[in-house]
Amino acid sequence: MAEEIKKKQIKDLERRDWQLWAMTLAILLSLAVFIILVYFWWDVPESGGRILDNYEMNIFLLGFTALVLLFCGYMVIKELEIKRLKHILIEERIRVETLNKRFKELESLFKVSATVNSRLRLSSVLDTITKTVVDCVKADQSSLLLINETKRELRCEATYGMGCERTRNKEVGLGQGVAGYVAVKGEPLLLNGKIDGSRFKNFVEKDVDIASALCVPLKVKGKVIGVLNVNRIERKETFDENDLKLLLIFADNAAMAIEKSNLYKRLQNHVKTLEQQANLIQAGKMMAMGTLGAGIAHQLNQPLAGIKGFTQAILMETDKESPLYKDLKIIEEQTNYMRDVINNLAGFARRSESKKEPIDMNLPIQAALGLLSEQLRVHEIRLIKDFDPHLPYVNADFNQMQQVFVSFIVNAREAMDKMSNDTKKELTIITRSTTDHRLYVTGQTKEGTMQDQEFVQILFADTGPGIPNEIKDRICDPFFTTKGSKNIGLGLYLNCRIIKDHDGSMDIKSEPGKRTAFKIILPAIKPKPGRKEDGDEKSE
Ligand SMILES: Nc1ncnc2c1ncn2[C@@H]1O[C@H](COP(=O)(O)OP(=O)(O)OP(=O)(O)O)[C@@H](O)[C@H]1O
Ligand SMILES: [Mg+2]
Repeated sequence: MAEEIKKKQIKDLERRDWQLWAMTLAILLSLAVFIILVYFWWDVPESGGRILDNYEMNIFLLGFTALVLLFCGYMVIKELEIKRLKHILIEERIRVETLNKRFKELESLFKVSATVNSRLRLSSVLDTITKTVVDCVKADQSSLLLINETKRELRCEATYGMGCERTRNKEVGLGQGVAGYVAVKGEPLLLNGKIDGSRFKNFVEKDVDIASALCVPLKVKGKVIGVLNVNRIERKETFDENDLKLLLIFADNAAMAIEKSNLYKRLQNHVKTLEQQANLIQAGKMMAMGTLGAGIAHQLNQPLAGIKGFTQAILMETDKESPLYKDLKIIEEQTNYMRDVINNLAGFARRSESKKEPIDMNLPIQAALGLLSEQLRVHEIRLIKDFDPHLPYVNADFNQMQQVFVSFIVNAREAMDKMSNDTKKELTIITRSTTDHRLYVTGQTKEGTMQDQEFVQILFADTGPGIPNEIKDRICDPFFTTKGSKNIGLGLYLNCRIIKDHDGSMDIKSEPGKRTAFKIILPAIKPKPGRKEDGDEKSE
């Protein structure tokens, strides 16, 4: 469209140019003819001795005057044409400048909208709106009022610019003053010069002279949620219709940002409620588990005590060198372990007190392996142990730690059982001492105290199918299991609880289809006294 207009204008100009050239040529030709004629008549008296008579003289003068007039006319037309072109040029420049100004305004509006929309907290959104609108429409002061439906009033939530503090937190009834009027009518107002107070109910004269003011409603889905005011106090220029249009676009964006922030707040509250509900359900489940555990403990502790008693009685009568003695000892140890597991189950509802003492972490691992190495052998799992014999001590509950390690080993065994027979089945257990606390994250240890802290690091790595990424975040949840009804999904949950209770942390690395590694970090208490000299216990 613009291209067509441009072409038409150029054609028009070319036509006019051609006409002017034709006119110039005609005048020049007439002058040439006139000069030839003058020359011809001038020569006649010398050759023929004839002097021009009055009639001829008049024709000459008339012709000359006509040519002069023609030339003057031509000059006037040229001058008018130049004036017209000048006019077009000035108009074009004004148009370009206006477009540039609009473009700049839209550019700043876009930037401002992006800034306003990037905030989520309501107070921050409101502050950003009042701050940026002042730059956007070149005002001296701004204020934003939101409607309180229950009180039927507007409250000034944010202000910016000259003397803005006076209006902050002020309340005005709906329908009162300029802001109340705009909120009720839902239409913008442009007020230049002294405001006619009689138009507005309960209008209060400001103590500063406002030269020009704009007040627009903030609407969400057609409903007014507040009002945005901008004032010019010191600036000489008054607001015009273009400023009003710009402010209306700004107000639409601002209202959207406010609505987004409100939705975010509501969503946060909703999430909080859901979390509280989940915790309640969780607590309920734990209570149920506790009751169940207490029942089981009550039922099983008796026969367990009997088994233990009888085992100990037979042990006393068995020769220490007999192979039976070793087996009976294992029965006694496993009975103790079963008693602890049952007690732990019973302690779900009340947080059980753990008996912590300085221990070498290799020992509960060895104890767990003592219970499970036979299982690993039957399931054709190669065990690779790489224990640091100089581990510093950890303040820990031996039985709980043994329970943790049993759980990791059983999980590894169950995972590798799923692999085909030609897959290499390996369980690697490594213990190390370290001062690298990057993995160690616990709310109880302050950053400053980490400098000289030593840690014990324990790794359980298996060559099982790995943990799919989509369940990685859930495996430590209570009752989460992928093994069907034969498992209850409490192993890792209890492990996390116990490790946390020991101020430790756990990291899971898994390559789906290949391997899984659980790394546990526990803070050490002091160097192990009387370090062993027997070197690494590396064995297979
Ligand atoms: N080494 C591992 N390799 C692959 N997946 C694992 C491994 N350890 C745990 N998982 C996954 O994490 C889930 C939860 O483990 P967790 O020990 O808490 O429960 P469970 O073994 O299913 O049941 P429970 O331990 O109560 O008998 C498992 O069902 C399994 O999907
Ligand atoms: Mg398990």
